[in-house]
Amino acid sequence: MRVLVTGVTGYIGSHAAVELLDVGHDVVGVDDFSASSPSVRAAIERAAGRPIELHELDLRNRAAVNCLFDKGNFDAVIHFAGRKFVGESMDRPVRYYSRNVGASINLAAAAQRHRVEKIVFSSSCTVYGNPAQLPVNEATPVAPVSPYGRTKVAVEDLFSDLCATDPNMSVLSLRYFNPIGAHPSGLLGEVPQGTPNNLLPYVMQVAAGQRSTLSVFGGDYDTADGTCIRDYVHVVDIAKAHVRALDYVDHVRGFDAMNLGTGRGSSVLEIITACRIATRRDIPYQIVDRRAGDAAVIFADPTRANIDLGWRAEANLTQMCFDHWRFERAHLAPEAQAS
Ligand code: UFG
Repeated sequence: MRVLVTGVTGYIGSHAAVELLDVGHDVVGVDDFSASSPSVRAAIERAAGRPIELHELDLRNRAAVNCLFDKGNFDAVIHFAGRKFVGESMDRPVRYYSRNVGASINLAAAAQRHRVEKIVFSSSCTVYGNPAQLPVNEATPVAPVSPYGRTKVAVEDLFSDLCATDPNMSVLSLRYFNPIGAHPSGLLGEVPQGTPNNLLPYVMQVAAGQRSTLSVFGGDYDTADGTCIRDYVHVVDIAKAHVRALDYVDHVRGFDAMNLGTGRGSSVLEIITACRIATRRDIPYQIVDRRAGDAAVIFADPTRANIDLGWRAEANLTQMCFDHWRFERAHLAPEAQAS
């Protein structure tokens, strides 16, 4: 297939591009580089041993999106582009609605008009908010607790309504739990801009000596060690699920959503321990106030993806932390690598 990949130079988009290229799909990537760098293209091409087509494009520009589809001849779209930080979304909700929902409306309209009927959408476990029952399966009610989460629900609703009224459309929404890790080649990984918002990038920068202490957001949650629990899943496992997802939307019409997680929850303190083992470095931390918008505990029931996609998360926590560290280390200044 000739696949349009939005957000191709981002963390998950870049890993997915490699997996798509590996199985023989052609990748036409777009990105506005607001949270990534054009240099990621070379890393994708090196890791996969094949070229991609790359366009700089802001999906909020409707005319540009239509122009892309006019010339694109796409068989399918995988839509990664968007902002993804809970905390930032609490402060800047309009930015989230514009970049996540506005952009998706343009993309959906162009895809429908050009009869590009297979779409895979990057959603998140954040749509479930603070679920009453664990693990969460896809029948768990969506009840997001942040603007970020509400934008993901809004886009799922958009695609669901689109499919309900256009029977040839097929959209699979993949609800990622917490992707971490990096490509085993060491070429691709997460490159946060400025101070990292997510746990793993922050932990790794503490391990590398670039930051002195990790702030653990909340030590008084109703969990065994008092810190939040998440289902951390290797980014390459997540990337591989997109190959399966393309196959799925090729055969099944309508809208569907599936969880991508391991089925196992880990606390923030367990992550720190795993990262200490993987990095062999000290990771000083202090418990601080809870972060607004955080769910206490969430982990997946990934049965549907296991059965209907034939997908299963394979990497364990140590492997994820080790791969994340390998990438981080490769991008450190020489003096930090040696210490
Ligand atoms: N955390 C800290 N200190 C930090 C950063 C995070 O204690 O410096 C804690 C958070 O409070 C949370 C856990 O680590 O309990 C994980 O936080 P992240 O910010 O890494 O991830 P979230 O669970 O908030 O999930 C969000 C989105 C997901 C997305 C994920 C990774 O909801 O959709 O970030 O990008 F997949």
